[in-house]
Amino acid sequence: MQTLAQTLANQAIPASLAQLLQTLASTSVAISNAVRRGALAGVLGSTDHENVQGETQKKLDVITNEMLKEALRADGTVRALASEEEDFPVVLGDHGDYLVCFDPLDGSSNIDINSLVGTIFSVLPAPQGEVSEQSFLQSGRHQVAAGYVLYGPATMLALTTGHGVQLYTLDPQNGEYLLTNPAVSIPKDTAEFAINMSNQQFWEAPMQTYIGDLLLGKIGPREKSFNMRWIAAMVGDVHRVLSRGGIFTYPTDNKNPQKPYKLRLMYEANPMSLLVEQAGGKSSTGYQDILDIQPQAIHQRVAVILGSANEVATCLEYHAVDY
Ligand code: AHG
Ligand code: MN
Ligand code: MN
Ligand code: MN
Repeated sequence: MQTLAQTLANQAIPASLAQLLQTLASTSVAISNAVRRGALAGVLGSTDHENVQGETQKKLDVITNEMLKEALRADGTVRALASEEEDFPVVLGDHGDYLVCFDPLDGSSNIDINSLVGTIFSVLPAPQGEVSEQSFLQSGRHQVAAGYVLYGPATMLALTTGHGVQLYTLDPQNGEYLLTNPAVSIPKDTAEFAINMSNQQFWEAPMQTYIGDLLLGKIGPREKSFNMRWIAAMVGDVHRVLSRGGIFTYPTDNKNPQKPYKLRLMYEANPMSLLVEQAGGKSSTGYQDILDIQPQAIHQRVAVILGSANEVATCLEYHAVDY
């Protein structure tokens, strides 16, 4: 089996990008080890701090954020980073070709129940001259690489540099990522959906009607039974979509009028959308391809509908109707 280094060496990407991806990968091995030791490493539980999102930070949110920040600072290829756990962009130096956005620990509500968590990252080109928050506000189409690491029964890395999606499995014996799927392909059709059903009363009409029709199964307009799964970590749900297809959505809701969307564009929706598109799937807000959104702020939130191409297209038909 090919190692990550060997696979990257065969792709037409700059050496600096390969180096940066290696740094992200080796940091994820250290994160994987900390996650794996759990209570033994003293990493479970919460801090008494809130992040810019208004969420109480878990100890591991803070630890993983520091690990990534320090590794990227030492790497030398990154000018600045934006993180879920940092209020403002962090400038790392005057040199380096890239900006990195990351969610250091996705699914952090799963941490204390020993369930799936991950890390999500997005790499953008750095502009000439000074970097500021403005430098990050590039649409997802500008990403030169994106990926996630899933700390599951096996630790897996999903990665795209715009040449399809590769899946790697961490060999825990030697801390090396080995290529276990060189060309991920999402089936066009599916009978599986992922949504937090507890928000149903707060959804808008298109999502109410679409999910309602899925739940009607064979006696409804879809004339087919659908199964539901919800891992409560986007990394886990998207990994299932990449593995066997499906539709994943965190739609607009009016539970809290100040916060109509949950997922963050720059370090959740954009990298996952690039992976999904590169694997033959589709990703939208319901009204626009996520990768075409012109970001307004680094912590901007967005509605997300992604997965099997035909199923996402069907969901979008419900959004095109006047209710
Ligand atoms: P994070 O832990 O990085 O803040 O992200 C949590 C997100 C995402 O991973 C997941 O899809 C969603 O929140 C889960 O939402 P619910 O709590 O509504 O299930
Ligand atoms: Mn969070
Ligand atoms: Mn997240
Ligand atoms: Mn997070």
